[in-house]
Parts: sequence; structure tokens; C-alpha cells
Amino acid sequence: MKYKIMTAEEAAAFINNGDIVGFGGFTPAGSPKIVPDAIAKRAEAAHAEGKEFKIGIYTGASTYDSLDGALARANAVLFRTPYQSNKDMRARINAQEAHYFDMHLSHEAQEMRYGFLPKPKFAIVEACELTDDGEIVPTSGVGILPTICRLADHIIVELNTTTPKELRGMHDIYEPNDPPHREAIPIFNVSDRCGTNCIKVDPKKILAVVESNISNGGNEFAPIDDVTAKIGANVANFLAGELKAGRIPASFLPIQSGVGNIANAVLGFLGENKDIPPFEMYTEVIQDSVIKLMKEGRVKFASGCSLTVSHSVLEEVYANLDFFKQRIVLCSQEISNHPEIVRRLGLITINTALEADIFGNVNSTHVLGTKMMNGIGGSCDFTRNAYISIFTTPSTAKEGKISAIVPQVSHLDQSEHSVKVLITEYGVADLRCKSPIQRAHEIINNCVHPDYRDMLRRYIESAPKAHTPMNIYTCFEMHKAFAETGDMHNAKL
Ligand code: COA
Repeated sequence: MKYKIMTAEEAAAFINNGDIVGFGGFTPAGSPKIVPDAIAKRAEAAHAEGKEFKIGIYTGASTYDSLDGALARANAVLFRTPYQSNKDMRARINAQEAHYFDMHLSHEAQEMRYGFLPKPKFAIVEACELTDDGEIVPTSGVGILPTICRLADHIIVELNTTTPKELRGMHDIYEPNDPPHREAIPIFNVSDRCGTNCIKVDPKKILAVVESNISNGGNEFAPIDDVTAKIGANVANFLAGELKAGRIPASFLPIQSGVGNIANAVLGFLGENKDIPPFEMYTEVIQDSVIKLMKEGRVKFASGCSLTVSHSVLEEVYANLDFFKQRIVLCSQEISNHPEIVRRLGLITINTALEADIFGNVNSTHVLGTKMMNGIGGSCDFTRNAYISIFTTPSTAKEGKISAIVPQVSHLDQSEHSVKVLITEYGVADLRCKSPIQRAHEIINNCVHPDYRDMLRRYIESAPKAHTPMNIYTCFEMHKAFAETGDMHNAKL
């Protein structure tokens, strides 16, 4: 190889205070794993000498702990966008020690190109193959990799030796032109491809190549609990009913499914429900349950921007690449989340709320209205443009002391105009074709935990009659009760 092979410490030495760095990958999948940690150590050494050391960070989404975790612990974050889910990064953000701005994942790459976000000086990316003429083949997550590689002055490549080079062919790399030269993105079916199988860069931009041997596999998913199982069954039964009623075409429509245990479990239930025909996925993260259903013939094809699976499942995919390369495409998040494609393909979207209100507004990001959890991720990209958008949530949190359904969301991510269906372990609220007061009764009767139903009914009664009845004096009474007593049951409603 004609590039300079370096240690992580040598490569990190190029990065200085104030630099803006774009990282490839999406979730721990494809996230650089050893250079970021070495940058964090550099920051710690500078701080020990009383010097400033902070960098601006763009990623695809959440990352490996040695990126967000290490840089946050080193207090080396000038700014951070978009989605993150690391506890140490979250703590810095909520302490106002790292400036975080949340954004739609489909917007990030184009906002860098438009100049709305400062250009990254460095791109640090993980690859399974790098050729002398500048071809970079990503590993199991793509994210913003194509755009940062093109915009950055310098590229540092972590060559991950645990990922087979034969992964080449699973990726589909396409960067749209910017307005006024944007054309239709030629994806008309989930399995369509419109780009190349690698990113091509000027080899002169590659500053360093660092070998890494950390697997992209993650932890196993938690066993499915009773509440999650009921939510999963409710989603599957609702969709089977829609199919029977002819509101979903008989061949079914592609599914987008959010992140985490609930999303993984919901997919499992969809796969098991024999009233639902084998289906396709057009989504951000491809999780364990998708791979299982693919082997069973229940998922026919999956297009996403990362393979965020557990270690054992990743090994299985790598051992059967001939099978999976015919059934999986990995693209950038600009394409996996693109509103044009989401609307065209008619996605059934399933995402998770932290909190919803009785009118169908959803908060996915801010705990009790103020503390950032993770970020919106792609949830709005998908929800706003869905064929039908579903939000799921357990009806309560914190051993029942918080009702996930309240009079008024304490922060708004998805508005009542975008959210079509809300599902908890208690049932389904179908919000389509209903006025705000009808939606309120549908949600209280079908989704709210029984402990909180009368409280919410009394709230509506107390509100002056109006199109959207709201009592401005008491709409945050449940949040207030939790803040003051640690239990929403004590709300004076
Ligand atoms: N008020 C306060 N806290 C709440 C709450 C509420 N209404 N609902 C949940 N919580 C707490 C939980 O108790 C838990 O706390 P803990 O970490 O101290 O245990 C925490 O919030 C997370 O809840 P949990 O039910 O474990 O969440 P999850 O893992 O299912 O994730 C989201 C839920 C909303 C945080 C997650 O789906 C997310 O980040 N979504 C936004 C991005 C997105 O949708 N991406 C997908 C697009 S492809």
C-alpha cells in the first residue's frame, strides 16, 4: 500500500485544537474506534498543561464509546451533531459543556455542502478495503462518509481487519447534486441501486492509514419483556387489520423501524404474524431481528445505512456474504432517510416516543422537557413522509411514576399532523380522520395506563371548550408533580 501506515497516536497528532472532524459510520457500525480515543488522550495531555483542546464533531449518528465516550470524558467537544446516545456525551451536553445541535439525519450531509455547517478539515473513516487509487470500501455502517471524504482536506482511514474485503458490493454510494441541479434520486424499489460500491477520493488526501481489529458487532438485545411483547403484538395486529381492510396493498409495503429493543422486538412480531406477507425494509439501522427474518424468508430485502447487529449475528452475515449481499444494501443516511424516497416507496414507519400528548404530538428527545436524551435521529425524516406513521411507547416510565401520555408534551419533535397511530401495551389509537378532541378520547381510552385515565379525562373537562382544548394553567401539572414529589400520580388534576 502506498499510504503511510501509522499508529492511532501518530495519526491523532494531526488533529489540533479547534479542528472540525467528520467521522464515518452509523452507530458503532463503521464508527472509527481507535483514532478518536487517541485524540481524546491528546486533549487530556493538553488540558493537563493548561491548554485548550476541543474539536467540532460530525458523525452519522451514535458511535462507539471510544469516540463519543472518550472525547466527552476528555472534555474535548467544541460542538457535536447529530444523534448521540452515549451517557458521558449526554452529561456534557446537559451540563452545557458541549454545544450540541440536533438535526434531521437526512439534512446533515447537504447542510455541510450548502455551507450551513462549517466544512470538516478531517474525515476519519473506517474501511474494510482501501486501494492505491483511492477507493474506500466502508465497513458495516456508512452515515455521512461519502460527503465528509469529499469535503475534508485530509482523510485518516482506520482499516478494520475484522471486516472481510468481500463486503465490497453490499454498499451503494450516491451523493445527490445540490439545487438547482438536483435530479430525481433513481430509487423506485427497495432493492434498486443507483451508485457505486465504494467511495473514490484523491489518494493525495489520505494522510494516514491505521489498522484496527475491533469488531463492529454490538451487544445482544435484552430478552423481550411483557410490555414490549404486547406493544409488538399490537403493532403486528394493527398492520394485519389494515391489510385486510385494503388500506395497505396486498403485497404489503416496506417497513422502516427505529432503534433499540422495542423496535427490534416489534419487527420480530411482524415477522411471526402469518397474516402479513414477506416484506421489505427501507430503514436506517438493520438490526438482529431483520437478519433472522431474512434467513426465514420473511424479510425479502433490506436497505439501510448500517448493519447494527450483535457480534454473533455479524459473524453470521460475514460467513454467508453470498446470501446476504443479494438481500442487503448499505447506503449513506442521506439516501436511506431521503424524504423523496420515503414518500415514493410508501414506507410504514415505526418509531419510539419518550412522551406523547393526548392530541398526538410526540417528544422523542427531551426527558421531562429539558434534558437531551439522544436526538431525533431519522424519526422525523421518516414520520413526516410515511405512508402511515406509527409511534410506540410503553404507557409509563420509572416504575409507573411517569405517564408517557400527558396533557401537553414538554418538548415537540413530531407534530399531531405527522403522527397517524399511537400504540402502547394497552392498545392502538388510530388518529386518522379525527379532530383533536376525538384523538384525545381515542388515546386516553386505548393507550393510557389505567392509573392515569381519569386524571387525563378530568384535565380535558377542565379546559375551556375550543378546537384543541387546553388548560394553560394545568397542562404541565403532571410534570410539576413529578418534579416536586417524584410521582405523576400526585398531580392535582
Ligand atoms: N419521561 C421521562 N423519562 C422517560 C420517559 C418519559 N416520558 N419515557 C422514558 N423515559 C426514560 C426511561 O425510564 C429510560 O430511563 P433510564 O435510561 O434511566 O432507564 C430512558 O428514558 C429511555 O427509555 P427507554 O424506554 O429505555 O427507551 P428506548 O431505548 O426504547 O429509546 C428513545 C426510546 C425515544 C429514547 C429512542 O427510541 C430514541 O432515541 N428515539 C429518537 C430517534 C429515533 O427515533 N430514531 C429512529 C429513526 S430510524
